Amino acid sequence: MTTPNTPNAPTPTELSGCAEKLIRGRHATRAFRPDPVPADTLRAIFSLAGAAPSNSNAQPWQVEVASGATRERLAAALQAAHAERRTSVDLPYSEDMYAQVHQARRAAFGAELYGALGIAPDDHAARAAYDAESLRFYGAPHAAFLFVTGDGGTRLAADVGAYMQTLLLAMTAYGVDSCPQGLLSFYADTVRAELGVTGGKLLVGISFGFADETAPVNRVTTARAALDATTAFHD
Ligand SMILES: Cc1cc2nc3c(=O)[nH]c(=O)nc-3n(C[C@H](O)[C@H](O)[C@H](O)COP(=O)(O)O)c2cc1C
Repeated sequence: MTTPNTPNAPTPTELSGCAEKLIRGRHATRAFRPDPVPADTLRAIFSLAGAAPSNSNAQPWQVEVASGATRERLAAALQAAHAERRTSVDLPYSEDMYAQVHQARRAAFGAELYGALGIAPDDHAARAAYDAESLRFYGAPHAAFLFVTGDGGTRLAADVGAYMQTLLLAMTAYGVDSCPQGLLSFYADTVRAELGVTGGKLLVGISFGFADETAPVNRVTTARAALDATTAFHD
């Protein structure tokens, strides 16, 4: 925030303009160019993400970033695990966790995504093949895996969620595109084995790099619920 002692600091108006651009400028990217993110940019992004808030500043995240040969090995291992139906989930998942209104939003999103991919709504085989292929990180040169440490319970997972969004915005700020992939968390044991991780619960993987701007899938747009549908102001 601007104070009288920091004449060059951005004004609140400038800052909110930047925030609008940054937050609304982030989108899930599902086709990447192979070019890696420079090492110093990687360090700057993950250092910035570490500024995320957490309950009592416990910072209950462990972050593992796979690039280069490790990324190749991991992608192959994930595809093998998928082919052999070797799933392992640290944090419970069930379709039943969604309310009806969530399901409606998910359906609208699915129609957008699979429409852009040219996959018909009832073509379950094509959808499954696309999911399997996504285990190669949509072609991204890097993947970050966010583990919840401590007891891995709901409240600590929420802190790691805050870290995730801070990381995604840090990437956007540095011109790096990303896709959080919950699907990667269904192969937690494979990720742990390939990366030599012993503890923690895998919340999500994030594929990142530079978008392939020519891919139609990267032109998918997602709507949001109206403000009043999710937010109430009490005077
Ligand atoms: C926790 C989490 C898990 C997600 N899992 C996947 C996934 O497995 N595959 C995928 O393509 N996108 C995944 N996404 C991306 C969402 O589909 C996307 O964020 C949402 O549709 C809103 O679109 P936007 O990010 O472009 O604004 C995930 C996002 C989050 C936050």
